[in-house]
Amino acid sequence: MLVLGIETTCDETAAAVVERLSDGSGLIRSNIVHSQTEEHAAFGGVVPEIAARAHVDLLDGIVARAMREAATGFAQLSAVAAAAGPGLIGGVIVGLTTAKAIAMVHDTPLIAVNHLEAHALTPRLTGALAFPYCLFLASGGHTQIVAVIGVGNYVRLGTTVDDAMGEAFDKVAKMLGLPYPGGPEVERSAHGGDAERFAFPRPMLGRTDANFSLSGLKTAVRNEASRLSPLEPRDIRDLCASFQAAVMDSTADRLRVGLRLFREQFGPPSALVAAGGVAANQAIRGALQEVAARAKTTLIIPPPALCTDNGAMVAWAGAERLAQGLTDTMDAPPRARWLLDAAATTPVGFSNTRAGF
Ligand code: KG4
Ligand code: ZN
Repeated sequence: MLVLGIETTCDETAAAVVERLSDGSGLIRSNIVHSQTEEHAAFGGVVPEIAARAHVDLLDGIVARAMREAATGFAQLSAVAAAAGPGLIGGVIVGLTTAKAIAMVHDTPLIAVNHLEAHALTPRLTGALAFPYCLFLASGGHTQIVAVIGVGNYVRLGTTVDDAMGEAFDKVAKMLGLPYPGGPEVERSAHGGDAERFAFPRPMLGRTDANFSLSGLKTAVRNEASRLSPLEPRDIRDLCASFQAAVMDSTADRLRVGLRLFREQFGPPSALVAAGGVAANQAIRGALQEVAARAKTTLIIPPPALCTDNGAMVAWAGAERLAQGLTDTMDAPPRARWLLDAAATTPVGFSNTRAGF
């Protein structure tokens, strides 16, 4: 089974060809990702209109490269998959329309993949992981704990009620004058800093639900930064270290609760899986490692290139769906918002239009 996957929901223009073998394992035949970092750097964040236009300019060439590197032709494809949401609607339309055009011209099945489902199924592409497992997804757009029960069967155990975790890192970086994207910069600055200099709040600590909140913490950093202004390099390092420590503690606490809820509803998970750009953070990885060990489960983090947005995860989710006979029709809609868990409701206090999805 050979599937082309297209990803355009945010600021990565990506396409990949993935093969699903008869034993259910996966093989990445090509995986081309263009990160639009330069296009958005001057604005300190992703500008939706610029992203959509860049996807239009780049996608044809990226798909052609993915096909060339996979040494295959459209006629050989078993299906074309595109991330049909959730995400920035302009980009989603570009990717889904391109997939529809290819599917129509080559008379190939179309699969409209939920971007979160693609993240959720990635660990099964890189290794033989059985259902059910617990996913912690933390990126610039999402912060969720999800029970992955099977293909198309997800239960959201927790989500952010305001900012996404990567978004909080980016905003803290911006207020401290660090470049975009801010996550890696904050982590770098935190290295030499004193994590105990500022007693920032540990949001949601001790709550019995598994939701996250990051905007209060972000505001606490802003208040401290303006009190200290003008900031010395030492202050920036200490602010980053103290912020990161608060995120770590809050993440560990939220995941302990998430894993407890998982066990109560589904029994022991086969693993705790972390994905999304924030999973690249070594301090947060350390916290996850500890949580997994205490819960007597294994921590799995896909390689960085598959943790962040890419086409291979979309192609793989397409292949997993195709193996279940799940395909879509040409009227599959692009969606700015698309809950992975149809039964999930908006958490009380939810105040962000982007992060909760
Ligand atoms: O998954 P991703 O590449 O794209 C989406 O947002 O979908 O995640 C990017 C986010 C950004 O907010 C970035 O600042 C954050 O992940 N990030 C990090 C680190 N590396 C990337 N946050 C904290 N520490 C890092 N090392
Ligand atoms: Zn993503």
